[in-house]
Amino acid sequence: MEYGYQTPMGAKIYLDFLASRDGRIQQDILYKAIAARLPKQHSLRVFDAACGSGWLAGRLAENFAQISACDSSQSLLAAAAAAWPLLEFKMADIEQPLPYPPAYFDVVILNMAAPDLNNLSAVFINLSYVTKPGGRLIITVPNPELAYPAAVWKRSWLDVLVGRKPKLAKKAPPKSGSLIKREFVPKSLRLNSYYYSLDDYLAAAKSAGFHHKFAQQLRSASDSPNFDLAYRLCRHPLLLLLEFEKSFQ
Ligand SMILES: C[S@@+](CC[C@H](N)C(=O)[O-])C[C@H]1O[C@@H](n2cnc3c(N)ncnc32)[C@H](O)[C@@H]1O
Repeated sequence: MEYGYQTPMGAKIYLDFLASRDGRIQQDILYKAIAARLPKQHSLRVFDAACGSGWLAGRLAENFAQISACDSSQSLLAAAAAAWPLLEFKMADIEQPLPYPPAYFDVVILNMAAPDLNNLSAVFINLSYVTKPGGRLIITVPNPELAYPAAVWKRSWLDVLVGRKPKLAKKAPPKSGSLIKREFVPKSLRLNSYYYSLDDYLAAAKSAGFHHKFAQQLRSASDSPNFDLAYRLCRHPLLLLLEFEKSFQ
């Protein structure tokens, strides 16, 4: 059954978010953080796994000659191919073996897609297979400690009346791998989303042969007067970047 990003409507909701002010802020934060981790080497072979609209592959192509990208949504791949006709976007399910040679990529990026995945360990194993020994895996995720569902922004009616800003309230995180309703995602999207803790990401990467090298909490550079993503990103880093190195054995 088609669900979430695979339906034309699901794809449209996601593309509309990317085009919104919040979406542009999020892309900007993610791009700067990811680009800062990449060696300045034009010939680098980079793979954008679960590329969605292809926006990241498109921006990386400004600096790197060999960009590959894949996704499992036909609608999003069509949008990506239309926006970047010179790049190759493949249809591929990253929970299955990937259509690339072994040890092919210098850098593999899984940007904001991990919580969509049912079988995290299969994905890390598949990504590891196509990464060169000594190559890098960069993943970005909603911060499992500070973003929904482990934390929510709250304000009472009184707070609203007197114009008080919301506060972050921590909650007990759900069980690892459990299905969650993602924040701000319309019901009509029928998106399957899973909760993974920081330990889940580290353990899945380690058992796929990646060593953890670097972690960074990502936040907005400037505050926003509205209760929007910029506002929340500024007060609490709602995104997390993790970087791993593929082992030589
Ligand atoms: C939140 S979007 C992020 C897309 C993109 N990386 C970005 O930064 O905008 C999640 C993406 O993961 C893709 N996806 C989910 N499960 C997948 C799978 N098993 N294989 C390939 N892509 C998948 C969806 O189609 C969607 O494009």
